[in-house]
Amino acid sequence: MAGYETMGTARGEIFADFRSDTVTRATPEMRQVMASAVVGDDVYAEDPTVNELQDRVATLTGKEAALYLTSATQSNLAAILCHCGRGEEYLSGETYHVFCDEAGGASALGGVVACPIPVDSEGAITAEQIRQAFKVDDPHYPISRLLCLENTVSGSVQSTSRIDELATTAHELGLVTHLDGARLFNAAVASGVEISAFLDHIDSVTLCLSKGLGAPMGAVLAADRATIDRAIRARKMLGGAQRQVGHVAAAGLHALVHHVERLAEDHARAARLASGLDAIERATARAATNMVFVDVPSEHRVPLSAHVAKAGIALGGFRAEGLRIVCHLDIDDAAVDRLIDAFATYLASE
Ligand SMILES: Cc1ncc(COP(=O)(O)O)c(C=O)c1O
Repeated sequence: MAGYETMGTARGEIFADFRSDTVTRATPEMRQVMASAVVGDDVYAEDPTVNELQDRVATLTGKEAALYLTSATQSNLAAILCHCGRGEEYLSGETYHVFCDEAGGASALGGVVACPIPVDSEGAITAEQIRQAFKVDDPHYPISRLLCLENTVSGSVQSTSRIDELATTAHELGLVTHLDGARLFNAAVASGVEISAFLDHIDSVTLCLSKGLGAPMGAVLAADRATIDRAIRARKMLGGAQRQVGHVAAAGLHALVHHVERLAEDHARAARLASGLDAIERATARAATNMVFVDVPSEHRVPLSAHVAKAGIALGGFRAEGLRIVCHLDIDDAAVDRLIDAFATYLASE
């Protein structure tokens, strides 16, 4: 567990935190590069470490330029503000983070309307749904301007061919395309391709550095030069322009070099965890990249969670679709074993 025996959280000392891949702590190597980073004032575009990170992401994504932002939420919002004006709309899956979990920022701050589209069990939408959701030019309707996709969606990989098909359809309709790639590296590693393979028909993409990659903060938006120039203004408006931020950008650069290939370890642990949990009577589990979704009969949900917490394991809450368990940089094999064991001992005793 990256050298940490236990982790202090608001919940007290715990052995393993499976709630999300956002809970990771910077590794000792990452802390070293952060401390020694060469920095400057990034509002003047004079931070060499930030500039290096942005150049690297532009190259990785095959886009003209990139911009470092404080979070994936801020990056998605900046992208929407660049692509849409007031009274215009973006289409997205109804479960996608940009629609559900970003405080309605696009409508609150940009006057941009959301058009959510139902998703299937893999989080996918279809080209036909996009055509149906698209509004013809009529003064009664908002102006359809943007398609927002996501990859992975709750751990499920959206294939390169699916993304290509949806983005091509959007372009045929005259829409711009944005991809929330908060976990695009997970999709790429699981598919054995580079992230750029998903981006041929994507106009702007958010990459997050503080999820599976394990940096303490930061996201990068990549797009053509003109969009990034507008995003610099949007970032300023959103209060996200920072000064000697190279100290944290250095963590992101380190993660891009050292923490991408290792995502395969998280996927393998999630697969082992899912099969271990699924083998327990009265539990069902499935893995999707670094995430596991598990369910037990509803009467066991609360006492099981209490039992697991006593074993020093932090879990999120059960939802309609079950409980999401996430593997990441700070989860090792011992943590996986302990979680399987905690489920097994509880369900065997009930
Ligand atoms: C798919 C997806 N996109 C965007 C975000 C937003 O990330 P941040 O917390 O960096 O704003 C999250 C956060 O969990 C996410 O899961």
